[in-house]
Amino acid sequence: MTSFTLCLSLLSLLSTGFSERHSKDAVTSDKSAQDVMHKENIGWDYSNIQTKFNLQSSKHTEEKDCGIIAGVGESLVKCNFNMTSKTFVIIHGWTTTGLMESWMSGMVKALKKQEVHANIIVVNWLERAHQLYTVAANNSEVVGREVAMLVDWLQKVTDIPLQKVHMIGYSLGAHVAGFAGKATQNKIGRITGLDPAGPLFEGTAPDNRLSPDDADFVDVLHTFAYGTLGVSIGIEQPVGHIDVYPNGGSFQPGCGLHDVFNALAYGTIGDVVYCEHERSVHLFVDSILNQDKQSLMYRCPDTKTFEKGMCLSCRRNRCNKLGYNINKIRSKRSSRMYLKTRADMPFKVFHYQLKIHLFSSEEIQDWNPKLYVNLYGTSGDSKKASIEMPEQVAANRTNSFLVYLEDDIGDLLGIKLIWEGSSSSWSLWFKRLWYGSSSNETEDFKELEIRKIRVKSGEMQKKYTFCATNRSAMKMSPGSEMMFTKCLDGWPIKNKTSLHS
Ligand SMILES: *[C@@H]1O[C@H](CO)[C@@H](O)[C@H](O)[C@H]1NC(C)=O
Ligand SMILES: *[C@@H]1O[C@H](CO)[C@@H](O)[C@H](O)[C@H]1NC(C)=O
Ligand SMILES: *[C@@H]1O[C@H](CO)[C@@H](O)[C@H](O)[C@H]1NC(C)=O
Ligand SMILES: *[C@@H]1O[C@H](CO)[C@@H](O)[C@H](O)[C@H]1NC(C)=O
Ligand SMILES: *[C@@H]1O[C@H](CO)[C@@H](O)[C@H](O)[C@H]1NC(C)=O
Ligand SMILES: *[C@@H]1O[C@H](CO)[C@@H](O)[C@H](O)[C@H]1NC(C)=O
Repeated sequence: MTSFTLCLSLLSLLSTGFSERHSKDAVTSDKSAQDVMHKENIGWDYSNIQTKFNLQSSKHTEEKDCGIIAGVGESLVKCNFNMTSKTFVIIHGWTTTGLMESWMSGMVKALKKQEVHANIIVVNWLERAHQLYTVAANNSEVVGREVAMLVDWLQKVTDIPLQKVHMIGYSLGAHVAGFAGKATQNKIGRITGLDPAGPLFEGTAPDNRLSPDDADFVDVLHTFAYGTLGVSIGIEQPVGHIDVYPNGGSFQPGCGLHDVFNALAYGTIGDVVYCEHERSVHLFVDSILNQDKQSLMYRCPDTKTFEKGMCLSCRRNRCNKLGYNINKIRSKRSSRMYLKTRADMPFKVFHYQLKIHLFSSEEIQDWNPKLYVNLYGTSGDSKKASIEMPEQVAANRTNSFLVYLEDDIGDLLGIKLIWEGSSSSWSLWFKRLWYGSSSNETEDFKELEIRKIRVKSGEMQKKYTFCATNRSAMKMSPGSEMMFTKCLDGWPIKNKTSLHS
């Protein structure tokens, strides 16, 4: 973490002070502004607040920001604070550069586009964040309390409902949001934690970190919850009402942490760590910008179960929308949700569960076949997609697998199952020739009989059953392919009720 040498494009979100563009006339001519001025003096001392708050509304088109000062009603008027709109509070994390990170402007732009009248407050605590990590982490509580003071003051002078306040905090900023939520007089509507920082927070009591108590609804994205040397950059434990672990929550596609030794050798480890950690931000921004490509996520006990395709149900709120448009489902215990994503925006993929009964004369042990599928649909055919192999595959039983596609292929029409590898008949033939027929030939010979594939689509919540097209050729071995199409009459099909709701 000390090698967090991050190349960031610099952003001038730092300027404080007031924009001179707003004339004094606007203040006196506006009635609600006068109300604000009358109420601003509520007998609190805000003079010690060091954190800076910059308001970005769509009125400040050229990205000029405008400083809001707790206790100074005039600053709200100057900054065109809209009392009837939603208010977003965006909070950065630990910094090694002392500068605002570039994702901030992307987030602000996305929110502005979607919520035209929204008040977008960018919290600037760079001074206290540009410290040793331990010091910055310790500062998150006092910064949170200052954010809370601002929010409480805003509510006092403008009567904004705190329900309409949504805090979005990244890394250490997620815990700042948590401390802010704990300290406000009334509960705020929502906190979104984007890969909340792990070190010094993992395993601590709810009072000392972001927790479900901090807002009416707390949702959390975990994109770099990966422990090395006992430390995980992003927190691993659930800390919200809904905790999402995209791609298992540790390695993100396109980031390449698996290449960690190369990254160390070339000094790019900071970029790699940064990519995984910051993916949480980009997933959230994607959910604002690409609402027509809304990613779905699924409740599941753990990654392993999800990677067997076993959690693609939407019954009883088991599935939800990732990010901005999430359904605010609160249960007593936080629910873990999973999904796969693409490597870049738009991140949405289409998940399928494949249930395949593998008839085999031998036990399937230490078996790592390379199985792929092509799915054929009403609006296109998929590229070759790999079937993730769970640890245990059982013979003479129905096994469940997960497959996901980047493209929407519509309703399913058929499946091609591909088993890559050297043709076993050749190696078997060669072995027989070499060792004689009494050789230990079963060692790497595998043959499976597959009659049917049952499929459940997560995104469409539909079930399909496909049967081997050629009923006199249902055996597969490495190097072979098999086609499955809609089952014809004569195939016994279980008549289960559809999950479609
Ligand atoms: C304030 O926001 C509301 C919507 O929440 C909008 O109708 C109104 O026009 C906005 N006022 C100003 C001055 O922009
Ligand atoms: C953390 O901050 C508190 C005051 O807020 C201080 O008493 C304490 O010494 C700090 N701890 C560290 C490790 O900086
Ligand atoms: C699977 O079932 C077939 C037929 O019932 C049987 O011959 C075979 O031994 C079984 N395989 C295993 C691994 O038990
Ligand atoms: C085949 O080889 C495996 C390991 O190489 C051995 O455990 C097994 O007993 C052998 N089977 C026969 C029939 O020789
Ligand atoms: C079905 O499989 C059998 C046995 O492998 C083969 O002889 C036959 O040509 C196949 N039929 C079709 C239509 O592919
Ligand atoms: C399956 O259910 C549908 C509708 O409930 C029914 O029309 C059909 O006959 C059933 N098929 C079988 C094989 O039972």
